[in-house]
Amino acid sequence: MRLKVKLKSKKRQASKLSATHCISYLIVMVCQYNMFSIWKQHDGPGFVHRELFGIPQRIKQINYCSSRFNTANLSHPHLGARDKSGRLGCVVNLDFLMERMEELPAIDSSNTSICTPNDASGIEGEGGNLVLKKIRKGLDQMRQENNVAEGKVPQLQATTSANNKTTPRILCMVYTVHTESNPHTSLRAITRTWAKRCDGFFAASNFTDPTIGAIDLPHFGEESYTNMWQKVRTMWSYAYDHYRDKYDYFYICGDDTYVIADNLRAFVQDSRIEELEDGFLDAISSLPQYRARALHTSSLRPRPLIWGDPMIHKRFPVIAGGGGYILNRAAIDFWGTKGMDTFYAESIDSREDIMMSSFFWDNGLSVSETVDVLGGHRFTESAEWIHGFDGYSAPTSPKYMKEFLDMVYNKGIEYASDTHVSFHLKIDIERLQQTGHTVADLIQRYHALLYRLCG
Ligand SMILES: *[C@@H]1O[C@H](CO)[C@@H](O)[C@H](O)[C@H]1NC(C)=O
Ligand SMILES: *[C@@H]1O[C@H](CO)[C@@H](O)[C@H](O)[C@H]1NC(C)=O
Ligand SMILES: *[C@@H]1O[C@H](CO)[C@@H](O)[C@H](O)[C@H]1NC(C)=O
Ligand SMILES: *[C@@H]1O[C@H](CO)[C@@H](O)[C@H](O)[C@H]1NC(C)=O
Repeated sequence: MRLKVKLKSKKRQASKLSATHCISYLIVMVCQYNMFSIWKQHDGPGFVHRELFGIPQRIKQINYCSSRFNTANLSHPHLGARDKSGRLGCVVNLDFLMERMEELPAIDSSNTSICTPNDASGIEGEGGNLVLKKIRKGLDQMRQENNVAEGKVPQLQATTSANNKTTPRILCMVYTVHTESNPHTSLRAITRTWAKRCDGFFAASNFTDPTIGAIDLPHFGEESYTNMWQKVRTMWSYAYDHYRDKYDYFYICGDDTYVIADNLRAFVQDSRIEELEDGFLDAISSLPQYRARALHTSSLRPRPLIWGDPMIHKRFPVIAGGGGYILNRAAIDFWGTKGMDTFYAESIDSREDIMMSSFFWDNGLSVSETVDVLGGHRFTESAEWIHGFDGYSAPTSPKYMKEFLDMVYNKGIEYASDTHVSFHLKIDIERLQQTGHTVADLIQRYHALLYRLCG
């Protein structure tokens, strides 16, 4: 109890850093650590540390790093984040970041490109508008089924009395960079909109800004698009090293992506996921040419799994990373124990999606299916682009999809699932620029339409 009093007084005199305060801070960190261990022993992973006697709230002002480690004998990808003074070895407190994000206003409804025209097509494009309205209907339906008020979407409850399964916790990670031309502009739109709806979030950048979830997470090699592999390799390793126990599913994408986080949640809570985790071979893994490979890991329990939009690389299925992809905890363990320190450890390459997928493929694990029963895709390029898609110029070529995965492509609004998860908006940048708009505007526009935020 005395600790709490001290910490409260610290808040009041935030500028006076005394030895006592530092000591009480240290004690809290130690207590927290011990309580975590106890909690873990009793309840297993996936615990909610926000509920732990509310301590993180009380030490809010000083709690950017939840712990620190000595980096003296370590190298990439294990150096951790930089704290605010630039020191490495910081494990960022993601609950602290989530709380800061709650303080951000929702979309900027006074911004003309976001709410005008209100419901007809705007910067999302005419086809994009149709696709988004279809998905909005899907969200409405989910809301009705769960009896949740207008404008809100349910946090689905998967708790069953039979096995005490709790609602899965999702960590969302975004890769970004702070530059003069894009000083976290897209990231700011992401944190205002969909990022808040994940259970944990951070954006790996080269500049710390806890108000929008940006952490400075250095990686091997230079900070450039051509070195995306090292950035993403470090993010997966950082997530494995420090957040593996706190989340059940791990999602990654770039800062040019809009994610319908409620559908991401519904996706990982679907009963099909449980079947897959129990060894079910889906349409991709059961194809004759891939089956033998899938059998290498399908008997593992828990079974490692990865999900995203599939494309073909050297005749095997990999993830097209634009719309992001998901690993379950067993898959991140797979990475942490078999890949993290050795797999292309010093390669400089932008094709992080192909490389991560290849790591899993080499170890007998294929990407799992993400299309719905009607063939609608959940991880795609922008709404406008997929609506006008002619079947020819795709990153995920339908010809190969048919030939290798026996997968059909629907056209128009049927391309998208009404339980769609993510849109990669990069493909719209040129179109947006013609009217002086940015991806940040488009992210907010999507959000405003899907959640009816413009009145
Ligand atoms: C780092 O390694 C050196 C040599 O192996 C050892 O002497 C030193 O104590 C280590 N330092 C830390 C902080 O572990
Ligand atoms: C489920 O949780 C309840 C209450 O916490 C407990 O009494 C029960 O034993 C649990 N059941 C299983 C199968 O773990
Ligand atoms: C972050 O990286 C970009 C791209 O290399 C660079 O232009 C920028 O100066 C870097 N920012 C910081 C704070 O290091
Ligand atoms: C609209 O928002 C964008 C960023 O998303 C900003 O650059 C622009 O200035 C805003 N326009 C108005 C009129 O507020």
